[in-house]
Amino acid sequence: MSISVKNNVFTLQTKNSTYQMKADERRILLHTYYGEKTDDTDYSYLIQMADHGFSGNIAGTENERVYSLDYLPQEFPVLGSGDYRIHCLEADLGSGVCDCLLLFDSYKVYDGKYSIPGLPAMFAGEEAQTLEIVLKDGKEEFYVRLLYSVLEEEDVITRAAVIENRMENPAVLKKVSSACTDFMENGLELLHFYGKHTGERQAERSPLAHGITELRSTRGASSHQHNPFAVLAKPHTTEQNGVCYGFAFLYSGGFCIQAEVDQMDQTRFILGIDDQDFSWVLQPQESFYAPEVCMCMSGSGFENLSHKLHRAFQDHLIRSEWKDRRRPVIANNWEATYFDFDGKEILGIAEEAAKLGVDMFVLDDGWFGKRNSDYSGLGDWYANEEKLGCTLGELSEEVHKKGLLFGLWFEPEMVSEDSDLYREHPDWALTVPGRDSIRGRSQLVLDMSRDDVVDYLYRCISGIIDNSKIEYIKWDMNRSLAAAYSKLLSPERQGEVRHRFVLGVYKLLERIVTDYPQLLLEGCCGGGGRYDAGMLYYCPQIWCSDNTDAVERLRIQYGTSFAYPMSTVSAHISACPNEQNFRTTPLKTRGICAMQGAFGYELDLRLMPEEEKEFVKEQITCFKKHYRLFQFGKYYRLVSPYENKNHTAWEFAAEDRKEASAAVVYTDLHANPKAEYLKLRGLSEELYYRLTRDGEELGTFTGAALMNGGILLPVPKENYDSCQYYLKAE
Ligand code: GLA
Repeated sequence: MSISVKNNVFTLQTKNSTYQMKADERRILLHTYYGEKTDDTDYSYLIQMADHGFSGNIAGTENERVYSLDYLPQEFPVLGSGDYRIHCLEADLGSGVCDCLLLFDSYKVYDGKYSIPGLPAMFAGEEAQTLEIVLKDGKEEFYVRLLYSVLEEEDVITRAAVIENRMENPAVLKKVSSACTDFMENGLELLHFYGKHTGERQAERSPLAHGITELRSTRGASSHQHNPFAVLAKPHTTEQNGVCYGFAFLYSGGFCIQAEVDQMDQTRFILGIDDQDFSWVLQPQESFYAPEVCMCMSGSGFENLSHKLHRAFQDHLIRSEWKDRRRPVIANNWEATYFDFDGKEILGIAEEAAKLGVDMFVLDDGWFGKRNSDYSGLGDWYANEEKLGCTLGELSEEVHKKGLLFGLWFEPEMVSEDSDLYREHPDWALTVPGRDSIRGRSQLVLDMSRDDVVDYLYRCISGIIDNSKIEYIKWDMNRSLAAAYSKLLSPERQGEVRHRFVLGVYKLLERIVTDYPQLLLEGCCGGGGRYDAGMLYYCPQIWCSDNTDAVERLRIQYGTSFAYPMSTVSAHISACPNEQNFRTTPLKTRGICAMQGAFGYELDLRLMPEEEKEFVKEQITCFKKHYRLFQFGKYYRLVSPYENKNHTAWEFAAEDRKEASAAVVYTDLHANPKAEYLKLRGLSEELYYRLTRDGEELGTFTGAALMNGGILLPVPKENYDSCQYYLKAE
C-alpha cells in the first residue's frame, strides 16, 4: 500500500520518497514531509510553534498566539486566512473579500488513478493509489477536493484540485493554483528553463532568495520564455548526487510558478494557471478543475530525476499508438521552400527523399486557402488546388506512390483577417469590440472557448484526413494571446477566456486523437513555445525549436531533456549556412545532434551534392538501426554545454545495459590541445563492450574501464567537429 492513514496523518510512499500531510486538531491540513524515503512517523513534531509577531491567528487560537497560518507548512494555503505568503486560492465567496478558511472535512483512498474532465492527466491502472482529501470553508458550503495519486515505482505523486461551490450564490475565483509544497527549510536552489523564440529551455540555476521568485507565462501558451517545469535542488546537487524535486505542470496555457522564502527561512513552492487577467465565476453546484502537477523526487541527482520523469511520461502520459514505435524519418519542406512551392516541386523533393530512405514527407505551411505569405489564409483549411496543381487527395496519393507516408501542417487556433473564415465570422476572433487589435505574425487568435469554433475546426481537419491519405499532423500555434475577449461571455466573465481557450484546444485535440488514433501528432508553437507535459498527452512529439543550428540546439535539447523524454524531441537537419544564425556546421554534426529523438530533414534534399546524399543515406540507416537507443534509451547528460569545456556530450544506454551510444560535439578549437576524456554512464561494470567510433573499431573494453577510466577523445579536425560512439556487449 502506498498510502497510509493514521490519526489523520496521510503518508504517501513511493519507492524512494515519502510525502506526508496531517489534518491537525484545528482541522488545518498541514504539510509535514516531502523527501527521501522514511517511515510514517507523524512529522508534525518538526514544526516550531512560536509567536512570531505580525502573523494573524485564526479564530479559537487568538489567545495562544502561537498558531498562525503565516508560518505553518500547509497543503493548500488560501488568501485571507492570516497567511501572508503566496497561496493557491483566492476566492470571494460572496462578501466581496477573499476570506476563505479551509478546514479538513473528509478523505477517501482508492486504487487506480483519478482523471480530470477536459484536461490532460497521467493515467495508471491498479498499480496506482489515490487519496482524495476534502476541505470545507469554516462557514460556507464551499469545498476544495485535493487529489493525490501515487505512482510508486516511478517515484511520482500527481496532484490536482477541484473547487466546488455548493452555496446558493456564485463564488468568484481570482486565483486557483494546483499544488503547494512547503519545505520547513531554507537553502534550496531553483533550476528552471527560460528562453525565447529560437532559443528555448536554457537552463538556469540559482539559490532562492528571500521574497518571491516567479516564473510566469501570460501568453496563453506555456511559452518559449518560461517552461512549466522546474526543479528545486539542495545546494551541490549534481547529475549524480544530491536531493532534487521536479515539478511538471500538465498545462499548455499561461502558468505561474512561484517560490517564496519566508520570514522564518521556510520555502514555499506553488504551481498553477496564470492568475493575471484571470477570474472565474463559479455558479452554485459548479466545479472548477485545477490542472495536474506531476511531482518527482530524486535522492541521487538530476540524472536520476530525468530518468524517472522520462519513464513516467513515456508510460503514464503519452497515449499515442506511436509512443513505442520508431518515429518516421521526416522530410519537411519549410526551410526548403517556405511559401514558394507548387505540387510538382513538392513531389520532386519527396522523390529525392524516398531515394535516400526518408519515411515521410511533411507539407508545411502554405498549402491551403490563399496562403502565399504569412499575411493571409489562416482559417481557410481547404487545399489551394491551383497552387498544388491537384487535389490534396491526389497529392497525398502521389507521395504514397513514391513509398512515403504523408503529413500536413495546420495552425488551427489562428485566423488571418485576409481569409474567407474571418470575412464570414469576424466575431470568432478574440478581439475587444471597438478597440484596435494586437496582432502577432499579422494574425488574430480564434476564440477556442466557443463550441462552434471547435466544431468548425474539427470538420475541416477531419474532412481533410478523411479525403486524403494522411498519417501525421504538425499542430502549430504562431502567436501569443493578448487582450483576449470572447464575444460570447459577459464583461465580468472575460477573465475566464484564457483558460477556456486552453480547454477548447484540448477538446479539439481530444476529438482528433480519439477519432484518428493512428495519426501521429507533432506539437509545435513557433518551434518549442508549447513544449509541456499537457501537450504530450495529445502529441507524442514536439518540434523542439525553430532554431535548427546544431550548436544552439545543444543547449535547447539539453534543457528539454531534464523533464521530457527524448522520444518527444523533434529535431531535423537543415541546410548551412544555418537560416537562423548563419553558422556552418558539418553535416555529420547536424545529424548527430538531430539523432536525439524524432529525426528528419528540413531542407531541399535535391540540392545536396551527391556525396552528401550518400552520407544522408548512412545517417538514415544509422537512425533506423539504433532508434531504440535514440528514442527510448536512458539519457545521460555527460558533458553539459554550459561547462567550460571544448565539447558537449551525451549518451543513450539500453535499459539492460547491453548497448549504448554516446555523442560528442566540439564547440571550440585549441592549438596544442590537452587530452580530453569522456566517462560513460549506465553500463555494466563486468561486461565487455565492443566500442566503435563513427563505425571504426576501437577494441573491447570493460564497462568499468569505460565508466571509470573513460574514452580518450580524438582531437577535433574542424570547427564543430563531432563523433558518435556505439558500444555493444559481447
Ligand atoms: C512555425 C513553425 C515552423 C514552420 C512555420 C510555418 O514557425 O515552428 O516550423 O512550420 O511556423 O509558418
